[in-house]
Amino acid sequence: MDSGIENIVSLISDGYGEDISSYDPSFVMRVINSRAESLSVNNSAYLDLLKNSKEESNLLIKSLNINFSIFFRNTFTYSVLDHVVIPLLLRSRAGREIRVWSAACSSGEEPYSIAIIFDELINTQRAESKYRIIATDINKAELESAKRAIYSASAIENVSYKRVKNYFTIQDERFTLIPAIKSYVDFSYFDLLDKEGSCPSASIFGNFDLIICSNLLYYYKKEERARILDKVKSCMAPGAFLVTGEAERDCALESGFYEFYSGSAIFKK
Ligand SMILES: C[S@@+](CC[C@H](N)C(=O)[O-])C[C@H]1O[C@@H](n2cnc3c(N)ncnc32)[C@H](O)[C@@H]1O
Repeated sequence: MDSGIENIVSLISDGYGEDISSYDPSFVMRVINSRAESLSVNNSAYLDLLKNSKEESNLLIKSLNINFSIFFRNTFTYSVLDHVVIPLLLRSRAGREIRVWSAACSSGEEPYSIAIIFDELINTQRAESKYRIIATDINKAELESAKRAIYSASAIENVSYKRVKNYFTIQDERFTLIPAIKSYVDFSYFDLLDKEGSCPSASIFGNFDLIICSNLLYYYKKEERARILDKVKSCMAPGAFLVTGEAERDCALESGFYEFYSGSAIFKK
């Protein structure tokens, strides 16, 4: 870590009691540059401001926690999940509950996308299968928003017309997910960097068949990414799948996973 970043990390820790040392230094620097730019000050003036303003420190910490998500975010990944991976799970796990963990679920778009795929496949195949999705995050406001499941048009831009018609009710340009799909997902708080718990307590035991841990690894330092992926690995049932973000494929490869379908960001251990 360069000394500039180290000073900022200590400033936030000593001055405000917040630990931002897990974040990737280049990501922290990008966020600082963008905060300084939005306030029209140079970096050194921004650091002075940071020393004297708890409010700015809170805003910086908030900016480090990126919550952006949309339904069916990475089209190729979801296509492979829809046509290959979830049909395979339905066949191979017939007769027992399929267990899914969305490990950084933000406001619910990701676990609900998975629930929609399961629902369609189970209906078309008239399969007997059951599934349950545990969805966790560290952001409590996002978890509350996920439970409400009301979305803007931009969150559903990758959702087909047919799916919008089948799975949402629309009022005043707000899209509310139908209760039948909501009922398959349990939301709870879980910190992937927590040194104690290896899997969310809501899941009782790990043993997941599918884990989605996407678009958060690249915000963290290399050793933290590896720690998160080790934790995730320990919660995977034999034959389970891991999904990362498209830009995070290297993190999974470096942690010893192999890509199940080339370029899909879907892995096995
Ligand atoms: C950019 S969003 C990605 C949401 C979704 N996975 C997707 O791909 O669209 C990143 C999410 O990771 C969550 N997050 C960040 N650090 C976390 C941690 N240590 N444990 C659990 N969730 C975390 C954030 O709160 C945020 O909701």
